[in-house]
Amino acid sequence: MARPTTDPTPSLGDARSVPLEAALEGHRERFADLLPGPGRCRTFFSPGRVNLFGGHLDYNGGPVLPTAIDRGTFFAIRLRDDGRIRLASTFSDEAFDGHAGDLPATRTGQWFDYPLGVVRALASSEPARSARLADGFDLLFGGNLPVGAGLSSSASICVGTAFSLDAAFDLGLSPEERVATALDAERGFVGVQCGIMDPFAVGFAKPRHVLWLDCKDESYEHLPLDFDRVAIGVVDSGVQRALARGEFNRRVDECAEAFRVLRQHAPGAAVLRDVPRAVLDEHQSALDPVLARRARHVVEEVERTFVARDALLRGDLETLGRCMVETHASLRDLYQCSSPELDDLVTAAVESGGALGARLTGAGFGGCVVMLVHAGEEERATEAVARRFEAQYGRRPPVAFFQGDSGPREVLASGGSRPGDAVIGA
Ligand code: GLA
Repeated sequence: MARPTTDPTPSLGDARSVPLEAALEGHRERFADLLPGPGRCRTFFSPGRVNLFGGHLDYNGGPVLPTAIDRGTFFAIRLRDDGRIRLASTFSDEAFDGHAGDLPATRTGQWFDYPLGVVRALASSEPARSARLADGFDLLFGGNLPVGAGLSSSASICVGTAFSLDAAFDLGLSPEERVATALDAERGFVGVQCGIMDPFAVGFAKPRHVLWLDCKDESYEHLPLDFDRVAIGVVDSGVQRALARGEFNRRVDECAEAFRVLRQHAPGAAVLRDVPRAVLDEHQSALDPVLARRARHVVEEVERTFVARDALLRGDLETLGRCMVETHASLRDLYQCSSPELDDLVTAAVESGGALGARLTGAGFGGCVVMLVHAGEEERATEAVARRFEAQYGRRPPVAFFQGDSGPREVLASGGSRPGDAVIGA
């Protein structure tokens, strides 16, 4: 039978009225078409994330303040007993079909490297887990999260794969282990030197909260955001982050090099985040000008993220907004990871009067802008931003608003559950 054509990749502007249960119902049907076979199918959801404060701080050991969004990856899984592993996606014609005992040892360059990395990480963690996974499974991916837009589809896939396999095979993973597995997959198998923020933001998500994560010691706490007063909007510039991977890795290297120089003057500093502003002021001339700009961003962004935390705790929305705008300026001028479209969106959001602040989110170099908007002003801010962007670039940017998410979870078949009735993992 001819394989049905693949779905278009999701846009932020897609209708949001489809409840998750109904969307997963559709995913279950695609599963039966794309990966036919006998046996029970279970479906799971894993969110994406948006970062509000702490831009490019995670791999420098700094604090970050992301929140999950209720757009993410859909999973449908069925256990097998013949050792076969099939991975397919509603967005791609490329599928993986292999055997648990003979998985690729190195990345293939295909989208399924992410789940394969997770399977490999789990299989090498404990013999008991490896033995269970050896039975094999069929797993279909899909979802409603834009890809390559800075909303962390990769962490959504990796943490969600770990969650789905954990639930389906009863592997007994702790939430921390699921996050560690996701990181292992991305760093060790896919080969991206990503920081810890994204899998933590996905794995430890809580609705109506942002995650305060200290990336030096991995401690975290959930801070409430008052959604009666404020809304989090995401605007997609529609510009794919073509250079993002190479430029991202270059920033990681530049920060490591800046720290190598500065640490000589900062006894006890373990990461760039530890370097005091006074040390940077005094020894800036020892750095190449580009490295000095990167270090300046990190040192000031660390301070700013603490200011934002305090403002959040006392409900000072004006300060939060101002921090966002300052962060964007720093990412644009010092970290040089913005783009004209992102700059224009931020300016439009702020000048609209509806937004308290706005900044690029994720790695930058394209993708999305996040804006903080007074509750009730969502439409005005959206219109102002979209109209101005359309006048400049000839297309209307998709905008969506979020209030956090509860993290990876099983979504039950609608026949057996009430809407919103989901099994939340331990
Ligand atoms: C990407 C990375 C994250 C983080 C952000 C920048 O999204 O995956 O680890 O470094 O960029 O804040």
